[in-house]
Amino acid sequence: MDEDSTAEHIALQARDVTFDWSALPVHWIPGEPFATHLLDVLHLLLPEGERWFVRVFSAALPLVEDPRLAEDVRGFIGQEAMHAASHQGVLDHFAARGLDTGPYVEQVEWMFRQALGERDLTGDAAREWLVERVALIAAIEHVTAFLGQWVLGSRGLDAARTDPTMLDLLRWHGAEEVEHRSVAHDLLVHLDSRYSRRVRALLPAVPILFRLWAKGTAFLLARDPEPSRPRWRDLRRAARLDLCPAAGPLLRSLAAYLRPGYHPSQHGSTDTAVAYLATSPAARAADARAAGGEEHAA
Ligand SMILES: [Fe+2]
Ligand SMILES: [Fe+2]
Repeated sequence: MDEDSTAEHIALQARDVTFDWSALPVHWIPGEPFATHLLDVLHLLLPEGERWFVRVFSAALPLVEDPRLAEDVRGFIGQEAMHAASHQGVLDHFAARGLDTGPYVEQVEWMFRQALGERDLTGDAAREWLVERVALIAAIEHVTAFLGQWVLGSRGLDAARTDPTMLDLLRWHGAEEVEHRSVAHDLLVHLDSRYSRRVRALLPAVPILFRLWAKGTAFLLARDPEPSRPRWRDLRRAARLDLCPAAGPLLRSLAAYLRPGYHPSQHGSTDTAVAYLATSPAARAADARAAGGEEHAA
């Protein structure tokens, strides 16, 4: 991936975006139920997952001794909270359409609220559990930055005439993932700079994420108006059409995380992310509303 050319520090801001899903087709990548549902898993996973990020980072914030990093962490929290709310909007739309995602989402909830939630710990044990979860988030953020960079550049989604509102949600979110891709890593290194801590977290994070994704895709395909089961050849076809990332770049990206000199700024392009955010209909509308609000307040 490109080396980042934006050297200066970007102040992270949460954009107060809104989306209208009332006209969203079931197969918002026309004629591509598999790829649609593969990406729909994001809406089932992310609300709970990103709300968990917010809880963990809010708990870690008092431990941050560097004011600039603390500012980044606050910006990260604001952005992730907005991502969770935006994907929740799609989930609510699914419910209104009569799709009951409860049986799947309840498993996701259990994972983030119980298995990875607060524990009754104090002192060193409490800090250890907090840092372990920051390490997990840093590993997941490596994957979300990879996905963000992919969705920003996917010509396949354009060629397939993907629903423009959904494409904007995915690219606005992807752009912010690229924009804030260093924050979780920097927070982790600030709290614990050991290589072993960082890399150890990738080992459980990746298989759990992939298993959840596979189960979510199967769950949604089974509830499609024309139910089907996931097949490897559908995945290969979607990757070939650039409707999802291909295995090669993903594996290379995961391997890069294992390098001792790894830093997220070496992967992905802030320029690409900022350029998209400047044209994103949702981000522009949010900026205009924010500017209008400031004028009123003045
Ligand atoms: Fe996010
Ligand atoms: Fe993120």
